[in-house]
Amino acid sequence: MYKLVIHGGKPLHGSIKSAGSKNSSLPILFASILADGPITLNNTPQLSDISTTLRLLMSMGADFILESDSSLFVDSSKLDNLVADYNLVKTMRASILVLGPMLARYGKSKVSLPGGCAIGTRPVDLHLKALEELNAKIEVKNGYIYAQTDGLIGSDIYFERVTVTATENIIMAAVLAKGITTINNAAQEPEISDLCNCLNKMGAKISGIGSLIITIEGVEKLHGVQYSVCSDRIEIATYLVAAAITGGSITVKNANPQVMHSVLRKLVEIGADIKIENESISLDMKGRRPKAINIKTGTYPNFPTDMQAQFTALNAIAEGRSSITENIFENRFMHIPELIRMGADLVLEGNTVVCKGVKSLTGAHVMATDLRASASLVLAGLAATGKTVIERVYHLDRGYETIEEKLKSLGADIERVQD
Ligand code: EPZ
Repeated sequence: MYKLVIHGGKPLHGSIKSAGSKNSSLPILFASILADGPITLNNTPQLSDISTTLRLLMSMGADFILESDSSLFVDSSKLDNLVADYNLVKTMRASILVLGPMLARYGKSKVSLPGGCAIGTRPVDLHLKALEELNAKIEVKNGYIYAQTDGLIGSDIYFERVTVTATENIIMAAVLAKGITTINNAAQEPEISDLCNCLNKMGAKISGIGSLIITIEGVEKLHGVQYSVCSDRIEIATYLVAAAITGGSITVKNANPQVMHSVLRKLVEIGADIKIENESISLDMKGRRPKAINIKTGTYPNFPTDMQAQFTALNAIAEGRSSITENIFENRFMHIPELIRMGADLVLEGNTVVCKGVKSLTGAHVMATDLRASASLVLAGLAATGKTVIERVYHLDRGYETIEEKLKSLGADIERVQD
């Protein structure tokens, strides 16, 4: 295993290029199951979740070629094994996204129930209930989901709670179903729009993309496609916070500011100068200490839960008191005790963390527990005085492409060392 060693206190300066979106690449890779030919995906990030997805697809009979660092050729058109095995699914919950496409294309599927993770129990009940409404028969036993259908039939779906991957699963099931499917209270994350745009390029008929009501008219088949994945708004926002927390100034290229309003507004509120030019976002803190801000996470276009931990680290050294309320996951606070070990003054009250900003954090030996919690510990280490060692950085590698290289290029003193 590896750990990161950071000597903090250096303001970040410079520019980096953002990678393609993890949460867009994953559903689109699973959508390759729907096509009767190969797909070529460009701008894919080099992440362990992508490798896990490719391994899972390969275990079911798909082929792939890594055409370059960020271009994948994937042929999932002739799967010969309709089982998504526990050993692969347990490492990546998003594997549940094989369910919709496999039912749509092959009429059956056996998928290991994804376990919970550090941020919550992560149930999949809404996925299964909606698939049953599309004429799938679902049985859950021995830790597996057994699904089969004699033909998916379009229906009116209503999600009682907004759910990103369940919306994606139903979209991918409905594109080959007989008739029309309407998804009411659909998630509106930009990554879902990216999936829909790619599916439409493959021959699907999806309308209402990016809205609360998505309509899918089933078609006979989908063909292969060449598609470029959108940029990763959470990776971009994480680097902007890295500049803000160290009082520096950076530019992130290959960004789409249009899908980042809630985060950019909060960065202006903390006192950062934000400049937007075409596809790049610049943040300049001019050496100032951030001002404390209150945050409530919510579904898109509200403030993203995937940025909650990073802004908690920012508030920990900000001037003043603040509160951050997590409304999406029941346990997305594993970074709190680790930040407290670095000198943060944080108190958890139900699903709200109350922060009292301290002038500076002190480096410490800390443990990563999940992807975004790990990112918040890196940010805290960049700002802290002294040395921070972060264990179990494999959590980070799931969602941040070569993070220490990108941070080093911005002037951070950070090394990846073997345990
Ligand atoms: C997606 O997870 C993202 N993952 C998460 O990103 C992100 O945090 C989350 O959406 C919220 O934006 C991918 O896209 C691969 P949900 P997902 O279903 O789809 C409850 C990251 O860091 N729920 O929108 O699993 C659920 O427990 C990851 O990149 C049910 O109760 O999240 C949660 O409280 C972390 N039953 C809420 O809904 C269900 O069947 C929203 O979850 C499904 C979800």
